[in-house]
Amino acid sequence: MKILEGQVAIVTGGAQGIGYAIAEELALAGASVAIFDLSLNPAQSAASALVAHGIAARGYAVDVSNSKLVDETFAQVVADFGHLDIVVNNAGVSFVGPHIKDVTDEVWNTSVGVMQSGVFYCMRAASRYFLPQRSGSVVNISSIRGLTSSPGRIAYSATKAAVIMMTRVAAGEWAPYGVRANAIAPGVQRTPMWDKDVKLGVIDEEYIVSVTPAGRLGDPSEVGKLAVYLCSDAAAYINGTCITIDGGLTTVPIEGSITRPDSGPGSIS
Ligand SMILES: NC(=O)c1ccc[n+]([C@@H]2O[C@H](COP(=O)([O-])OP(=O)(O)OC[C@H]3O[C@@H](n4cnc5c(N)ncnc54)[C@H](O)[C@@H]3O)[C@@H](O)[C@H]2O)c1
Repeated sequence: MKILEGQVAIVTGGAQGIGYAIAEELALAGASVAIFDLSLNPAQSAASALVAHGIAARGYAVDVSNSKLVDETFAQVVADFGHLDIVVNNAGVSFVGPHIKDVTDEVWNTSVGVMQSGVFYCMRAASRYFLPQRSGSVVNISSIRGLTSSPGRIAYSATKAAVIMMTRVAAGEWAPYGVRANAIAPGVQRTPMWDKDVKLGVIDEEYIVSVTPAGRLGDPSEVGKLAVYLCSDAAAYINGTCITIDGGLTTVPIEGSITRPDSGPGSIS
């Protein structure tokens, strides 16, 4: 029997990148998967690809910064799959570059809307199913940017740090009900978000690889395998923690220069 056999998982931002890799590892571990993403077509395509692993999967168009839509779609997932056991809050946006004086309201509000409020809305919705059933696991995707500072990342780093603290608050509240919350702080992973920032010239990939002790970027599937572990019974006593997966990047002081100090106005992804 596979370790997550029969479980149902929601993965936000699951149409591509780390979210898709997590969804695929959950599927390989036997879980059925609901993919939440901004547009229906990419979410459904991702879900169709996962069905090849012999599980049920569906895509849903959900902007996680819309609390009403989040609540409605959680209810729809439970109606479609019968129950809910795992929620991975992964959806994210990247605006790399502008220093504080140049950060627009749009950049700030979108970042907080997706990566802090969106995580909160999904945690709240999850808890309304998990607490009464006295089981469930939430995994929140933070970032090494939530642990170490970097110029040009005020909104991103603030939300990623908030995710770690929201995870800890939830773990303390939920543990008596048998519900767990943990966070993952990835280092640099090759995904569409990463490739876009490299292409825009706001991140120097060669430099990052040269200062990463492991000597390479991370593979999103490695984050996926960690998420599977955290959701499994093998991690039953792990609650409220944040696990860094960065090839040792945060062990070397130089990594603070990950964002070029002279970088431009930034990107939206
Ligand atoms: N790539 C990295 O190096 C890296 C490192 C550390 C942390 N992360 C985090 O991992 C997560 C995934 O990053 P990625 O690199 O795969 O990014 P990505 O841009 O490749 O994928 C992000 C996904 O989230 C979706 N999304 C964006 N806004 C949304 C919203 N409001 N509602 C629902 N879905 C939304 C996008 O459509 C996309 O499918 C993000 O939270 C990111 O901050 C990434």
